[in-house]
Amino acid sequence: MRVVSLIAQMQSAALRWKKSGARVGFVPTMGYLHAGHISLVKRARQAVGPKGRVVVSIYVNPTQFGPEEDFTKYPRDLKRDLRLCREAGADVVFTPTDAAMYPGKSEDHYSTYVVEETLSLGMEGSSRPTHFRGVTTVVAKLFNCVLPDVAVFGAKDWQQAAVIQRMTADLNFPIKIIVAPTLRERDGLAMSSRNKYLNAVQRAQATILSECLSEARKLVKHAPQSAARLTRKLAECVAAKSEARVDYIHFFDGETLVPAKTARPGTHMALAVFFGKTRLIDNGRL
Ligand code: PAF
Repeated sequence: MRVVSLIAQMQSAALRWKKSGARVGFVPTMGYLHAGHISLVKRARQAVGPKGRVVVSIYVNPTQFGPEEDFTKYPRDLKRDLRLCREAGADVVFTPTDAAMYPGKSEDHYSTYVVEETLSLGMEGSSRPTHFRGVTTVVAKLFNCVLPDVAVFGAKDWQQAAVIQRMTADLNFPIKIIVAPTLRERDGLAMSSRNKYLNAVQRAQATILSECLSEARKLVKHAPQSAARLTRKLAECVAAKSEARVDYIHFFDGETLVPAKTARPGTHMALAVFFGKTRLIDNGRL
């Protein structure tokens, strides 16, 4: 496994592979990898086969964090990440620098952004107004560095995956997007690098996100529910946890992200809950 930091080096490796007929699978990450990321690496390998090449990028992208968010304290452990990537069978770990990705601090040096204007507006987009602009920009740039045939994203960031799929189609990237299932801890908490921020009490209460999904599934199985009423009911369940504060609970069509007035089996639900300053998200099909 090679570690490549230079963009030109990454691009020439990708062009060499393509020339030799090897397919390129790509897993973009911000590092601090967990079993969920590793499952994406394995999915990428499965997609490109043993003769293909799998690239994992590790880059904590500053443009997708708001000014009050956790960019500087986002957990980082490159040594461990490299070991995990090697064990998972990655061929290359791409670790571009900020200076290479966003040269200079002023707009004299960097002034081009990719903005998806529909799917990115609600949910995460409402709570984090500049987030998806940063995500689409960095993912488009990473696509141009890695030149993948296939890229794998986690279903935990459902809206992100939808936005990336739309961007890929709209900008004609010749890349197949695969959305791989969320991995969970034994108690149901979706795996996330941000789980590390939780103290013991918050960690114990964080199962409320997956519990809300299970409760919603149970209720809609019984009968269709008004989304507004179900939201209030689930918000009460969250409020019963001393450390938890609801950011949003949302019901929508899983493909179009159009809000649903009625929640029924097949409706998609997403929620975001704060534990102190830590914001966790989860989602699932009811
Ligand atoms: O999901 C993530 O970790 C990030 O948003 C991504 C896709 C790597 C872009 O920085």
